[in-house]
Amino acid sequence: MENSFDVVIIGGGPGGYVAALKASQLGLKTACVEKESQLGGTCLRVGCIPSKAMLESTHLYHQAEHDLAAHGVKFNKVQFDLAAMLGRKEQIVSGLTKGIDGLFKRAGIARFMGTGKIVAPGQVAVQQESGETLLTSKNIIIATGSKVALIPGVTPDGDRIGTSTEALSYTSVPKHLVVIGGGYIGLEMSSVWRRLGAQVTVLEFLDRILPGLDNEIAAEAFKILKKQGFEFQLGTQVKSARVEGKKCIVEHSAGEPIVCDRVLLAVGRQPFTEGLGLETVGVELDERKRIKVNTHWQTNVPGIYAIGDCTPGPMLAHKAEEEGAAVAEYIATGYGHVNYDVIPAVVYTHPEIASVGKTEEQLKEAGIEYKKGNFPFRANSRARTLNDVEGFIKVLADAQTDRVLGVHIIGPRAGDMIAEGAVAMEFGASSEDIARSCHAHPTLSEGLKEAAMAVTGKPIHF
Ligand code: NAI
Repeated sequence: MENSFDVVIIGGGPGGYVAALKASQLGLKTACVEKESQLGGTCLRVGCIPSKAMLESTHLYHQAEHDLAAHGVKFNKVQFDLAAMLGRKEQIVSGLTKGIDGLFKRAGIARFMGTGKIVAPGQVAVQQESGETLLTSKNIIIATGSKVALIPGVTPDGDRIGTSTEALSYTSVPKHLVVIGGGYIGLEMSSVWRRLGAQVTVLEFLDRILPGLDNEIAAEAFKILKKQGFEFQLGTQVKSARVEGKKCIVEHSAGEPIVCDRVLLAVGRQPFTEGLGLETVGVELDERKRIKVNTHWQTNVPGIYAIGDCTPGPMLAHKAEEEGAAVAEYIATGYGHVNYDVIPAVVYTHPEIASVGKTEEQLKEAGIEYKKGNFPFRANSRARTLNDVEGFIKVLADAQTDRVLGVHIIGPRAGDMIAEGAVAMEFGASSEDIARSCHAHPTLSEGLKEAAMAVTGKPIHF
């Protein structure tokens, strides 16, 4: 009985640990199997959290060096201490992972440190150094996340040719960093090292950066990042990267090989589904090796569920968290729902880029008639006081009903502001609803109100 549970979750990342906490809140006897010593998954250990810590520190340094004089704040000399920045990042990660440990203890969740494998429906074997423990449960949730995608010719060596994990911990600033891939990771990590003085060259296969984001927003990001000194080579396919002495040589489709001192591979992630015993129990995968699930996160095998990056959909921590809570609710109560039309996405460059709902391109492709309202941050008084006026807000609404279909922001604190767009969409708001809601003055959020005004009429300040 000791190792028999109502629900066993494999994976302790944002999907898995949230599922465990919610399941236990709903009265289920819950176990979570995680192979790493720290809970929190890629996001907390080597992803979202450490990258935001480094982005924040380097942004402050950059501001001190370049922007604060405009506020009348002057220094004789601004310096950075990379070891201190890295140490602060580690402290934040360690504090937050201990926080999850604490939540688990308080909730009475059994935590097994080891690799989980489904050996039969209802049975998970945990491989630990001390041997194997067998857990039984009517419900198993797979929340094993994703791993870095590779391309032929580029093999990370854990040092000079690395992934975001290495790029979060370089112990010195690269002179020249070549980044393969102009997506989320590529641009966030480039920002960190560019601000500390690295020459950064981003090689992107497509003819644009940030595929999937609204074109107009991505074009603005491209312009702003170029002004920050990013070098972009678009339409460029990387053929190989190799280390020669102290240098790396990157061969690509658009000209001479590039000689640099570090290479960051950031061409996407792929689901982590190996070694889980999925073939033994017959869990079906799709053509991209993601676990196939129905609208209640059930696989084709009764009692086995899957959530997060190892299933279809955007590979985002908050999408996994929503699924984690909802699948626990479904198991406990028979109900559980995620609205996939309203999953925000944020890129933590400066300025931040955030979006929720449909892009203009998606609306055109679906043949949906829409109206749009744009509002620039340079016309927002709060942005002026912050001295942070680049970018704009765009609201897209149905041409007939005025229902908000998408909100896209590039500008200061876009990542926090997008929540208003998400809540509005969740409640089926029209652009007029946003435009007629009183927003405090002076705030950045007034920009969203004005963009909403621009959908059917005119903003006040532009
Ligand atoms: P991504 O899918 O955002 O971007 C990868 C880029 O690499 C694409 O633009 C693609 O066209 C390009 N590419 C592919 N093959 C290439 C080649 N051979 N040569 C040159 N370019 C090539 O993937 P990324 O940035 O690695 O991020 C992985 C996942 O992690 C994403 O799904 C993202 O959603 C998530 N993530 C989310 C963050 C956030 O929410 N702020 C931060 C970091 C990652």
